[in-house]
Amino acid sequence: MDIINKISKLKQEKNVIILAHYYQLPEVQDIADFVGDSLDLSQKAVKTDADIIVFAGVHFMAETAKILNPNKKVLIPDMDAGCSLADSCPADKLSEFIEKNPGHKVISYINCSAEVKAISDIICTSSNALQIIKSIPKDKPIIFAPDKNLGRYLEIKSGREMLKWDGTCLVHQEFSADKIREIKQKYSDAKVIAHPECSSYMLEHADFIGSTSALLKFSKTDISSTYIVATETGLIYQMKKENPEKKFIPAPVTGSCVACQECPYMKKNTVKKIYDCIRNETPEILMEESLRVKAFSAVENMLKFSAKK
Ligand code: 13P
Ligand code: SF4
Repeated sequence: MDIINKISKLKQEKNVIILAHYYQLPEVQDIADFVGDSLDLSQKAVKTDADIIVFAGVHFMAETAKILNPNKKVLIPDMDAGCSLADSCPADKLSEFIEKNPGHKVISYINCSAEVKAISDIICTSSNALQIIKSIPKDKPIIFAPDKNLGRYLEIKSGREMLKWDGTCLVHQEFSADKIREIKQKYSDAKVIAHPECSSYMLEHADFIGSTSALLKFSKTDISSTYIVATETGLIYQMKKENPEKKFIPAPVTGSCVACQECPYMKKNTVKKIYDCIRNETPEILMEESLRVKAFSAVENMLKFSAKK
């Protein structure tokens, strides 16, 4: 039996759901029961009646699924699948920052640890961040952690200044605003579409900015035939699959790096690791209940904003 059939058989026997982010390897996306952006995946994790959730994504995503499902087993194919944004913001340092700036509403991007979620008032993703910021009374100051690029973009969109944590995504930070000028000349009909984790220099060149799901939707509904895509290349796999007649070009990065549009953490998960993970029921996400309860409150505050899928 090949590995794909073995995974299907084990999934049925153990009542497993595989959730995958758009940045996963193509073959991982293909075996998933559901592929989505951070918000879609959190919503799906709330709704599932599977006994075991295999989260083909990074640690903070699997941790969020556990926060939402204390009684389910949540597995991650590779425990080392981290995130530069989450790593940039240790909870003790954020806690000091909050203490130095009392009276702020703390909004944290979902790309953070459970400990950071536990000291935040509300979590957001790139899909719902603007809506959440707009819901905060104008006279209430905001701390936004950990992505300064997303924070800057949201400041412009909302017209609200925020105290921003100084974190960045190692993938989105690398797109080159200088090289994008050259590539735009070469593909003069192309539209530049970008994730808001990109630097503001890069976002100035974008015709459309949105979360991974929003970028995918735009690539389907927009009439252009060519797109320069400033986000992790896993999404391009899904874009090509859903729009085989259109052309998608990864946006150029600074330096001569050839794989910098790929998230090294997201790409740690493989089909083989997923098979091993279902068979052995490990690595498992475990969490102190007291921490989970605190983090849950901030995640739940976010989910109240977003329509159920
Ligand atoms: P979204 O899935 O919310 O667009 O976020 C992208 C990302 O960087 C996930 O790590
Ligand atoms: Fe983190 Fe960036 Fe990788 Fe997303 S793409 S998991 S934000 S390092």
